Amino acid sequence: MDVYEAVRTRWSVRNFTNRPVPREALERVISAAAWAPSGSNMQPWHVYVVSGASLAEIRKLAGERVAAHDPWDNPESEMYPATLKSPYSERKAAFGAQRYGALGIARGDLEARQRAASANWNFFGAPAALFCYIDRGMGPPQWADVGMYLQTVMLLLRAEGLHSCPQMAWSVYHNTVAKVLSPPDGLILYCGMSIGYQDITVPSERTGRAPLDETVKFVK
Ligand SMILES: Cc1cc2nc3c(=O)[nH]c(=O)nc-3n(C[C@H](O)[C@H](O)[C@H](O)COP(=O)(O)O)c2cc1C
Repeated sequence: MDVYEAVRTRWSVRNFTNRPVPREALERVISAAAWAPSGSNMQPWHVYVVSGASLAEIRKLAGERVAAHDPWDNPESEMYPATLKSPYSERKAAFGAQRYGALGIARGDLEARQRAASANWNFFGAPAALFCYIDRGMGPPQWADVGMYLQTVMLLLRAEGLHSCPQMAWSVYHNTVAKVLSPPDGLILYCGMSIGYQDITVPSERTGRAPLDETVKFVK
């Protein structure tokens, strides 16, 4: 697959079929993604590729917590700054409006939004997932390295006919994920990622982007 096509067709899929993901495809993707760049080649990502019984266990434990209205775990990192200024707050709101509007959920219906967001804990139906940790001592440049790594994974997944949805949501249930994966001390769960084949019978729309001149300047 051409790189442009991989970028164009990568988007956050939130409806997967239960078609199993071949282990070899995941191995090819993970082997190739190891070539993602990082400052001083530190490769600060710690990755768990999960499927089968372990994925089922995480899904079950998270589902039980949701059903019990169990509060979220103490955050290990902030998902977003406490106050978002313009234009970020507007972009975030526009995303919410598009995502929940497409599901027919009214703007003020927080309960319905939460119900829709709880599909995160079911990995949106995906049969495979990845969890990505970073060492607590790492700073913003290394977090950026991890982002580059994850994007590399997501583009390579496209080359295998697979889709993905990165999920910071899992960071609020990091204790549940840790119960199954037993990561070493000192790691922070940055995000999960659902991986699988898109259920194309469910209509969905690609999220838009800000006009380029809002985010980029070509300078001569
Ligand atoms: C680091 C990261 C974490 C994300 N976490 C979630 C999440 O927890 N749940 C979710 O549904 N989408 C999540 N997303 C998907 C974003 O909402 C999505 O990337 C954005 O709206 C742009 O849409 P697109 O990926 O479909 O192009 C996350 C994306 C990134 C990059």
